[in-house]
Amino acid sequence: MSNIKTLIEREVLRRRTFAIISHPDAGKTTLTEKLLLYGGAIRQAGSVKSRKTNRYATSDWMEIEKQRGISVTSSVMQFEYNGNFINILDTPGHQDFSEDTYRTLIAADSAVMIIDAAKGVEAQTIKLFQVCKKRGIPIFTFVNKMDRASKSPFDLMDEIESVLNIYSYPVNWPIGIDGDFKGIYNRQKSQIEIFEGKDHGMSSVNSVKGRIGEKHFKDLIGEDYHSTLEDEIELLEHAGEKYDLEKISKGLLTPVFFGSAMNNFGVETFLEEFIKLAPTPLDKNSTAGLVSPFNDNFTGFVFKIQANMNPTHRDRIAFIRICSGKYEKGLQVYNYSLKKHIKLSQPQQFMAQDRTIVEQAYPGDIIGVFDPGIFNIGDTLSEKNKNLKFDDIPMFPSEYFARITPINSTKRKPFIKGITQLSQEGTIQIFKQINSGIDSLIAGVVGVLQFEILEHRLKNEYNVEIKLERIPFKIARWIVTNGVEFDHSNLKLSSSTIIAKDKNQNLVLIFENEWSQSWATDKNKNLVLKDTSL
Ligand code: G4P
Repeated sequence: MSNIKTLIEREVLRRRTFAIISHPDAGKTTLTEKLLLYGGAIRQAGSVKSRKTNRYATSDWMEIEKQRGISVTSSVMQFEYNGNFINILDTPGHQDFSEDTYRTLIAADSAVMIIDAAKGVEAQTIKLFQVCKKRGIPIFTFVNKMDRASKSPFDLMDEIESVLNIYSYPVNWPIGIDGDFKGIYNRQKSQIEIFEGKDHGMSSVNSVKGRIGEKHFKDLIGEDYHSTLEDEIELLEHAGEKYDLEKISKGLLTPVFFGSAMNNFGVETFLEEFIKLAPTPLDKNSTAGLVSPFNDNFTGFVFKIQANMNPTHRDRIAFIRICSGKYEKGLQVYNYSLKKHIKLSQPQQFMAQDRTIVEQAYPGDIIGVFDPGIFNIGDTLSEKNKNLKFDDIPMFPSEYFARITPINSTKRKPFIKGITQLSQEGTIQIFKQINSGIDSLIAGVVGVLQFEILEHRLKNEYNVEIKLERIPFKIARWIVTNGVEFDHSNLKLSSSTIIAKDKNQNLVLIFENEWSQSWATDKNKNLVLKDTSL
């Protein structure tokens, strides 16, 4: 094997690239911060938190962001732990929830789902989970905030199984709940880890090995807690799911960890087990068949475009997930959709607070390259094979809609240019209604903040002020046509339902509510709908 192949193989095998999926406030920022502390990527608790407010304070169009004290952008963080390189893809979650959040999941090889122990499975988690499930990637669960009153762990497992339709295997098990949390029993290591509830930092956990039933376990946690633990573990062993690596790797079984991110409890157990179980960079499907990360031809794809991170340059950053080969500074690649070679200039990697120029990067890594407006979401880049194209990234369902028109009708041209550009960047989706004479376009977004960004950027970058009129629609569904001409004129739809075409001329139905969606599928037996464009 050539040296380059050996090098790539070594680097691939020590990489794990995952996204965290959760509902706002479940503890994503806190857990991320604790993971970065373990990797030594940050030295101080609070660094990630401050990123929420400070990191992009320099971006001018993000006045909105400053006013609200949130980051509109997601980022990528890399840290090293015991010789492994871990890439965490941040999924924006508060008001800044957007289609970017879904697209980020396409660039991850596994996902970590954080659940608030008192709240269980919440709405945003369900949406993100479904994207991961569809991809069949492994999903790990961290049940957070065990230091506080929580639901029973059995109820939480039931909820995960019934709401998300995935089996669960608790790797550790909580001892004492409802604000009386004593610690966890680590089933893999057969040890009790005692929760002391006062350490917000990095000190090691007091862990004691042994077998359930042994005296020193009883002495450690007391007879009552011990007897409950004994019963519960017995129940899990007999009635629970078996530990099955194959099911974990296909996303059919989720390993569950209980802990408290804020108290840094259960986090190390989680990290160690995660590194053992999480996949190294996966093969990716393309027109040239499956592309292995070990292949020495550099390939990657653009999954996110971030505008104007640097106000003085009005630049855009295209985020590229590397799929195979090795990136070296100044690498020339072929962009399949542009049909030309481009140089990847000044690629950057992102840490908690900093951006650094990348000299080398490997499969699983994410690099951000300067984009003078030439990249689109989903672009394939390949060093050697001009015919290689990865599967497209689907469009995800918008949930908020507005009719948009330029206030000054002479500005139609820059208006169209602006919205075309912004839809290619993935900021908004543009639909053209085809079942009415109304000459207006519909913008669809996953999070309402995108409307403000749309107005702001059209005004500042394209000098176009728009009238944006929100319409009370909630659901976009693509019509499955299987490549055959579809006659939409005979569809029986409720009077308000909009028939539209997306930017790729795919037919889309936009509904006001679930009732009108069911009405459409009930009345039109040949109508099949899907919730993404692909
Ligand atoms: P997010 O990124 O998922 O939105 O959640 P984040 O980490 O910001 O956590 C949301 C809140 O939950 C924070 O409290 C955080 O301190 C708290 N939290 C996180 N993990 C735990 C835990 O294990 N136990 C308990 N009891 N709380 C936890 P906050 O009051 O909103 O913010 P802050 O004042 O603590 O910064």
